[in-house]
Amino acid sequence: MIQQERMIVVRQSEIAQHIFELTLQGQIVQDMAPGQFVHIRVSDSFEPLLRRPLSIANIDKEAGEATIIYRAEGRGTEILSTKQIGDEVDVLGPLGNGFPVDAAPEGGTVLLVGGGIGVPPLYELSKVLNARGIRTIQVFGFATEDVAFYEEQFSTLGDTHFVTVDGTNGTKGFVTDLLEELKPEFDLFYACGPLPMLRALERFYPEKPGYLSFEERMGCGIGACFACVCKTTEATDQDYVKVCSDGPVFPKGVIQL
Ligand code: FES
Repeated sequence: MIQQERMIVVRQSEIAQHIFELTLQGQIVQDMAPGQFVHIRVSDSFEPLLRRPLSIANIDKEAGEATIIYRAEGRGTEILSTKQIGDEVDVLGPLGNGFPVDAAPEGGTVLLVGGGIGVPPLYELSKVLNARGIRTIQVFGFATEDVAFYEEQFSTLGDTHFVTVDGTNGTKGFVTDLLEELKPEFDLFYACGPLPMLRALERFYPEKPGYLSFEERMGCGIGACFACVCKTTEATDQDYVKVCSDGPVFPKGVIQL
């Protein structure tokens, strides 16, 4: 059920260049699942008016805390990055349909692929899969070392590989370059990142089941404004889907890439 709550900032720090890790406490956390997102109103004044959709990186139900990792790159997220411990932020959530965790076969191996600010939701997913005894191979791409994050955290969960476009951390190139080299054996893949990356993965693994999380531009976040509409393929009987309320996670092959 979608709720609106004034959540309390319990931690915030810059973990890479312009990349912030924000932990919020509130009741909403009890209903969160991996791959869902929250819509945060960054300021109580009218400007900026819109909420910012941000994916959930870590869910700690016992502590009632959720962690969001975001890039401060516009007025809204820059305001958010100034929030201090004890501040309150207006949060709408949890929103969307997250990763279908049950799709991963028991005792199987799953490939997680993320690019840039698409990496965070895969952290909670990896934790949940690991808790179910599913092995994870994790391949993450960043522009450069300065904007890379969570290498240590992911390494405790599975076989982790970093790729940077300029080669400052891990292999030089894109995640697809590394995948070509690694030739990982897996049963299913989950991915989140830029469209070219998702497109390449669909091409790479035509035989494997996979789920893609889309980072579409959003307005309302609850299916009312049509800002996030994407065209579908003939694999579905719908002409379009709304990323915010039908997704953000879709089986591969559903959205035209
Ligand atoms: Fe408004 Fe999806 S953001 S319908």
